[in-house]
Amino acid sequence: MNTTSAKHVVLGVTGSIAAYKACEIASTLTKAGVKVTPVMTHSAKQLVGPATFEGLTGNRVISDMVESEQNANIDHIALAKSADLFLVAPATANIVGKAANGIADDWLTTALLATQAPILFAPAMNTNMYTHTAVQKNIDLLMQRGCQFIGPAAGLLACKTDGPGRMVEPEEIVDAVWSILGRSDDLKGKHILLTTGANHEPIDPVRYIGNRSSGKMGFAIAQEALARGAEVTVITGPADVAPPAKAKVIQVETAQEMSNAVMVHMDEADVVIGAAAVADYRVAQPATQKHKRSTQSLSIELCENPDIIGTVGAQKRPEQLVIGFAAETNDLIAHAEEKLNKKNLDLIVANKVGTSNSGFGAETTDARFLFRDGTIEEHPVLPKRSLADHLMNHIVALLSKTAKTSVTH
Ligand code: CTP
Repeated sequence: MNTTSAKHVVLGVTGSIAAYKACEIASTLTKAGVKVTPVMTHSAKQLVGPATFEGLTGNRVISDMVESEQNANIDHIALAKSADLFLVAPATANIVGKAANGIADDWLTTALLATQAPILFAPAMNTNMYTHTAVQKNIDLLMQRGCQFIGPAAGLLACKTDGPGRMVEPEEIVDAVWSILGRSDDLKGKHILLTTGANHEPIDPVRYIGNRSSGKMGFAIAQEALARGAEVTVITGPADVAPPAKAKVIQVETAQEMSNAVMVHMDEADVVIGAAAVADYRVAQPATQKHKRSTQSLSIELCENPDIIGTVGAQKRPEQLVIGFAAETNDLIAHAEEKLNKKNLDLIVANKVGTSNSGFGAETTDARFLFRDGTIEEHPVLPKRSLADHLMNHIVALLSKTAKTSVTH
């Protein structure tokens, strides 16, 4: 298996109507920092344009071996070797049959024979085809050889039959990919409490003070923690993106509500992460009626909100981890170090805001990790899910360290 942190998944797309769902898989894995090489069969290309997969993955689509000059340069053996996983999604009865019987008549079937990487099939076909003895025998044969299958799910199919045959949802397939890539379950049994999003501090019944947090970083952390088997409670202020379905979600508006929710749940948590852009101030006395326009200037008195992660840091149990973020426009390291110490954090993620590839609303982030022993870990600009992956690796390591310390004492 590839030992570098960037994993390589070869995504085989075959000719089922579910081929369009493979776009979401390609996109999610790519955003998470995985190198995705899309391979399309001839029939898959009739259903979804290769340009879509090229756009989503940034990599050229590999297709039939004899068909294109472009593909003549692609060494399928080398690619088969460099893959950490072959994912065939959707997998038709045809590809399952060919793979089971060692037929190698296009790029995908040839590479499936050549690779030693794990192979995961996500079947999608008509119910009668799926339950046919020939297909079931082929699936059994592949499973005996160590191939893995996810699904199919039961439900109403495009061919109007109702039964097993529908490809499972992309989210579930991506989770299976994480599990095979070895990132699953290292946080099993752990509870992560996370704040994310913005706060809205009311001025009057129609206006509020807010900030630009999109919630994307927090939700990437939640997704990564869930993929590794953690139980995740997300306390979210207003955000632009939907929280992951498997998390326990508590919606709040104001910093005070967020603080109250954190205080209720902090004792259950092994790790508390403050990714929210908490409003430091609230309006001292929000008006009960809408402010009317006047020619006079308007002054609004603000008073301080609680420092949520600072309070958690001050009250934390010795084996509990507390992690914060520092979003800064200037003097990044100095400000982050000060917050790490003042808030009694185990780790702080310091990231630049105010540039197009980092900070509020961006898909990527320019961050570094600061630890209590003074170590700083630099990262290149990374997709937020990728940074979340690095963060989880540290959380796993720090948790095992604190567990050892509490056993020794
Ligand atoms: N934080 C918090 N409660 C607050 C303010 C911040 O829990 N009232 C948390 C954030 O979620 C983040 C960390 O503290 O994890 C640092 O947030 P940041 O806004 O960068 O720092 P502040 O302490 O608010 O300091 P300043 O705004 O002066 O930079």
